[in-house]
Amino acid sequence: MKQHLVVALVLALAPAVAFAGAPAPKKEGIEGKAYVWNAQEGEKIEALHKKGDVKAGQEAYEICGACHLPSGAGRPDGTFPQLAGQHTTVVIKQMADIRAGLRDNPTMYPFAQTLTDAQELADVAAYIEKLCIPVDHGKYEGADAAMQIAKGKELYQKQCLECHGKNGEGNKEKFFPVIAGQHYKYLLRQMTEIRDGHRRNANPDMVKVIKPYTNDQLVAISAYQSSLTMPGSMCKAGPAKKK
Ligand code: HEC
Ligand code: HEC
Repeated sequence: MKQHLVVALVLALAPAVAFAGAPAPKKEGIEGKAYVWNAQEGEKIEALHKKGDVKAGQEAYEICGACHLPSGAGRPDGTFPQLAGQHTTVVIKQMADIRAGLRDNPTMYPFAQTLTDAQELADVAAYIEKLCIPVDHGKYEGADAAMQIAKGKELYQKQCLECHGKNGEGNKEKFFPVIAGQHYKYLLRQMTEIRDGHRRNANPDMVKVIKPYTNDQLVAISAYQSSLTMPGSMCKAGPAKKK
C-alpha cells in the first residue's frame, strides 16, 4: 500500500520536479579537472569502501521503485532500465556520476539527490544486486528477430564479449555492467548515446570499439543482447521475488 502511494506521488511529481527543480550540473570532470574514466575519487570511492546494508538499502530503494519498479525490473518499453542483479560497483559508479553531473539524467536527477551519503549509496546498491533478474523483459519484436539475433551475436562475440561476458554478466571488479535481461529499447538507446558521445561518462575503450557501428548494426547487437540470460541470477517464472 505504502509502495503504491510512493509510486503515485513520484509519478505526479516527476515532471514538475524535473522542470522546476535545480537543473543537474553538467561537468566534464570532478572539480574542474579533465574527465578521467572512472577516476577513483569522491563519493564513489567512499561508497565502494563501505559495506552495504541490504535492509537499509531496501528502504532507500522505495522511491526508486516508483520508476524502476519494486522488483527492479524497469519497463519493457525501455524508458526505465532494469536494475535488478546489477553489480554494486556499476550502480555506485553510475549513481555517483549522475549525482556529480558526469552522466545526464534529468528525469532521475532530483531522486538521485535524495540519497543522503556514501553509506546510503552502498546500501541501495547492495539491495539492487540481490534482486533476481526478471525473465520477462523488452526484446526485439520484429519479424526478422532470428536473423537480427544471429547477426548481432557475431558482432557481439567479436568486440563486446570480452567486457560484457558470454552471458551478459559483465564484470563486477571492472565496473562492466550486467546486460543480461536488459530491455531492448534501453540497450539501443544507450549504445547510440555512447557511440555519439552523449553518455559522457562512458568507458573510452568501449567508445572506440562502438564508434564505427551503423544504426542497423546497433539494432542487431541490441536484439542479441536482450536475448541473453545469466545462469543463476534469473527469477523463477511467476511473480517477481527476491533471490
Ligand atoms: C523519475 C523516475 C526515476 C526514479 C525515481 C529513479 N530513476 Fe533511476 N533511472 C531513470 C531513468 C529514466 C534512467 C535511464 C536514463 C538514461 O536513459 O540514460 C535511470 C537510470 C538509472 C541507473 C543507471 C542504469 C544503468 O544500467 O546504467 C541507475 C543505477 C539508477 N537509475 C538507479 C536509481 C536509484 C538507486 C534510484 C533511487 C534513489 C532511482 N534510480 C530512481 C529514472 C528514475
Ligand atoms: C573495454 C570494455 C568494454 C567493451 C569492449 C565494450 N563495453 Fe559496453 N560498457 C563498458 C562499460 C565500463 C560500460 C558502463 C559505462 C561507463 O563507463 O560508465 C558499458 C556500457 C554499455 C552499455 C550500457 C549498459 C547500461 O546498463 O546502461 C551497453 C548497452 C553496452 N556497453 C554495449 C556494448 C557493446 C554492444 C559493445 C561492443 C560493440 C561493448 N559494449 C563493448 C565496457 C565495455
